[in-house]
Amino acid sequence: GSESAGTYGDSDFVVVANRLPVDRDASDPEQEWRTSPGGLVTAVAPVMKAQEGAWIGWTGVADVDFEPFTIDGMHLIPVTLTNEDVLRYYEGFSNATLWPLYHDVIAPPEYHRTWWEAYVRVNERFAAKVAEVAAESATVWVHDYQLQLVPQLLRRMRPDLRIGFFNHIPFPPFELFAQLPWRDEILRGLLGADLIGFQRPADAANFRRAVRGRLGYQTKGSTVTVPESGDLPGHSVRAEAFPISIDTPYLEELAADPAIIERAAQIREEVGNPKVIMLGVDRMDYTKGIRHRLKAFGELLAEGRLNVEDIVLIQIATPSRERLEQYKIIRHDVELAVGRINGEQADIGSIAVHYLHHSYPRDEMTAFFIAADVMLVTALRDGMNLVAKEYVACRLHDDGALVLSEFAGAAEQLAGAVLVNPHDIGNLKAGILEAVQMDPKTRARRMRQMRKKVRTDTVSAWSKRFLSELDAIRDSPEAVVPD
Ligand code: ADP
Ligand code: G6P
Repeated sequence: GSESAGTYGDSDFVVVANRLPVDRDASDPEQEWRTSPGGLVTAVAPVMKAQEGAWIGWTGVADVDFEPFTIDGMHLIPVTLTNEDVLRYYEGFSNATLWPLYHDVIAPPEYHRTWWEAYVRVNERFAAKVAEVAAESATVWVHDYQLQLVPQLLRRMRPDLRIGFFNHIPFPPFELFAQLPWRDEILRGLLGADLIGFQRPADAANFRRAVRGRLGYQTKGSTVTVPESGDLPGHSVRAEAFPISIDTPYLEELAADPAIIERAAQIREEVGNPKVIMLGVDRMDYTKGIRHRLKAFGELLAEGRLNVEDIVLIQIATPSRERLEQYKIIRHDVELAVGRINGEQADIGSIAVHYLHHSYPRDEMTAFFIAADVMLVTALRDGMNLVAKEYVACRLHDDGALVLSEFAGAAEQLAGAVLVNPHDIGNLKAGILEAVQMDPKTRARRMRQMRKKVRTDTVSAWSKRFLSELDAIRDSPEAVVPD
């Protein structure tokens, strides 16, 4: 036990993220654990299932203390957030300040000092929990924008630890990041890590530029030299790209499951057996470009370039961050657009857009991916976008076409996609038509190329690469500065 061992805990490997891989419905905390929403959990859960360790995070319920528990072989350690923490740290600073700021200010970020104070306080709570749980010289992997102060806090408390940080979302250009009143504190917080991973090389470069511009530290290649300051000795930090991925073998197994294939055929029947099924799968978020996608589809129908008897769009949107104003607005706009398209373009027996505002189990999601001839990923900005990779992984017959936004990290990896600029509705319409009309041979060639990529670059390869680089940094401190 951690008490009897003095200052150290028992875990040699600790993952820290705002969310645990499972959550409970805040309005009904008595119900069972279910999978938490979002790409972070999709990616990190298989990593944790495959190795020993502890995952520290929040349960999604305010003001309730939970004991540590084990689920699917993962040892989970809950951190409690009060109602006020949820309002100011989670909904406020994390999702109404950082989220829009880091996603190209698609929505205007709000800056409030009370939110910042809560962010500091909750980051301190997470760091204290790690310090309690981590064994001597343990490896700690901190995840995402909600916890950017944890690396530095931890380095102060526990200089013995190996600290990695991975940012799942974009890191903004310096000109945008510079708006943040607490920009220097955030940079110093992150620089407490030994290794900082980003989705794209451009995100890592944005970060290093901010470090040079604001703190005046030197960088050489991907290495930042942090000088000693007060009580902390100087050290080097690597900041570089580690594009995240998916559990491809698992998805391939599901996609080959006869029951799931049968379910895909059933879905096709249920939507009227059209020539073409198009699919969108997103959290209901203003970064995902759902409105732009609907606008393009609506215009193509209205102009007669697509015919409602031949094609349907299934748009699945998981409820997300629903108390926030910007999320109420996007939901309202999407629902208005769906209603308008169906009202104007559909007929009895032929609906244009099937809109589903729920979350589904993985089996059912896989059936949707198998049923879809064309996948639409039209994010205005996205760190990676795992949905694009999931669709590709499920196309075991190398058929289907992917329409993919240039502004998703996945665009740098999935060269066989039809790349679009979702801000340019004309270009988006052309991309959708190209995907719908693409001949089977071209589809097969492009899908084969993309499948090869997701079969090589799995999430397990991603975590191995990150963790082995982190190991190497601490094992040979004098070899930290590569050229
Ligand atoms: P984000 O992390 O911003 O939500 P990603 O595309 O990277 O975006 O990851 C989203 C994850 O959530 C994917 O694994 C996707 O399959 C899953 N997902 C999205 N919508 C749903 C839904 N309605 N039901 C179940 N899973 C969903
Ligand atoms: C994205 C973020 C994650 C977050 C997820 C779901 O994937 O990168 O950090 O957990 O969205 O959002 P939520 O606010 O529900 O945790």
